[in-house]
Amino acid sequence: MSTITNSTNIFWQECQIGKPDRQKLLNQKGCVVWITGLSGSGKSTLACSLGRELHTRGKLSYVLDGDNLRHGLNKDLGFKPEDRTENIRRTEVAKLFADAGLICVASLISPYRRDRDACRAMLPDANFIEVFMNMPLHLCEARDPKGLYKLARSGKIKGFTGIDDPYEPPLNCEIEIKQENGVCPTPTAMAGQVVSYLENKGFLRS
Ligand code: ADX
Repeated sequence: MSTITNSTNIFWQECQIGKPDRQKLLNQKGCVVWITGLSGSGKSTLACSLGRELHTRGKLSYVLDGDNLRHGLNKDLGFKPEDRTENIRRTEVAKLFADAGLICVASLISPYRRDRDACRAMLPDANFIEVFMNMPLHLCEARDPKGLYKLARSGKIKGFTGIDDPYEPPLNCEIEIKQENGVCPTPTAMAGQVVSYLENKGFLRS
């Protein structure tokens, strides 16, 4: 059997400096904050606000934004279910950022539960923090920051999440962001909710 088409005869290379050393250097614990939700639900707003808040506190984070990844690493992928699955699978790179000691903030629609759960399964459970932007479709559609819901409703975009492609909400996420008495939390308040969680769980010290 040919070995050239298979990834065989490969070995894991250990280095002297490991995750605990990097965490000590940074005085934080590496983890993945995975933000999921509909387009227009505020994922990127939260990711940026969280990145800013952590930076202010002297904590190193990095945002992996779905739209941005699709400009490079994932630019060969579309929005068919198998492409979305591959899009999420490649975001395994978040695990590498966490191993580097960073607080990696991944912000993707990631509409299918099994794909998110596959990412969760790659990390020790406590190091995968799933944040659900629980905003109603009508609100996201009213916001329509990129004008895509309008195009989806008129049939110009097919398979748009929430319109003619499903969004499967998490069943057991760590953090849920939602409206209070019909009012959306501010970007600072949303980031504060996540920072409090990270602080309480000990991620902001080594
Ligand atoms: S995911 O479903 O594969 O996780 P991802 O977060 O990477 O999606 O990209 C979503 C972005 O792609 C949206 O913010 C939107 O700007 C754009 N987009 C274009 N077509 C679609 C579509 N059919 N469904 C959802 N988002 C789309």
